[in-house]
Amino acid sequence: MSRLDSFIRRLEAQRRVLDWAAAAITGRDGLVLELGLGNGRTYDHLREILPERVIYAFDREARANPRSLPPPEALVLGDMAQTLPVFAATHGRCAVLLHVDATTGVPERDAVALAWLPGHVAALAADDALIISGSELIDEALLVTPLPEGVPLGRYFAYRRRAKA
Ligand SMILES: C[S@@+](CC[C@H](N)C(=O)[O-])C[C@H]1O[C@@H](n2cnc3c(N)ncnc32)[C@H](O)[C@@H]1O
Repeated sequence: MSRLDSFIRRLEAQRRVLDWAAAAITGRDGLVLELGLGNGRTYDHLREILPERVIYAFDREARANPRSLPPPEALVLGDMAQTLPVFAATHGRCAVLLHVDATTGVPERDAVALAWLPGHVAALAADDALIISGSELIDEALLVTPLPEGVPLGRYFAYRRRAKA
């Protein structure tokens, strides 16, 4: 498969998963967190399909298309290895949905560079929160949950936050 075809499939899978996740949190309170604002494409989609939700976006720097920039009070800049624990200390396990899109596109690289990420995700997720991710997240608090139909295996990952005992 060409890299163009692979890119198109990744975007289709991403949209399908975002739409599915937005429907899955209907009726549940909590924040939505976008970990990896990047160009702002998925943030923009989330705010379109979840207009009533408070959505915070995180990234090292604000490089998004100006049309997809969150308001300053909902944008957390800096290395997430530092900003996520600070946010968790203030807000606790506040999120009903987390979209993790910090991937470099190279799973072997992500496994090393983002090894700290699953623990921080678990620390922000409310009981039974839905976590969708472009890279695999391994943490005992995160239970693998099935993705919607039509999302190729390994292209996206979904988890539920185990309730704290
Ligand atoms: C794949 S891009 C996100 C794409 C974005 N969701 C979109 O739809 O346009 C990954 C983003 O994660 C950010 N990122 C990766 N590791 C990070 C870290 N440790 N701290 C903050 N941001 C990080 C990168 O700066 C990059 O913008």
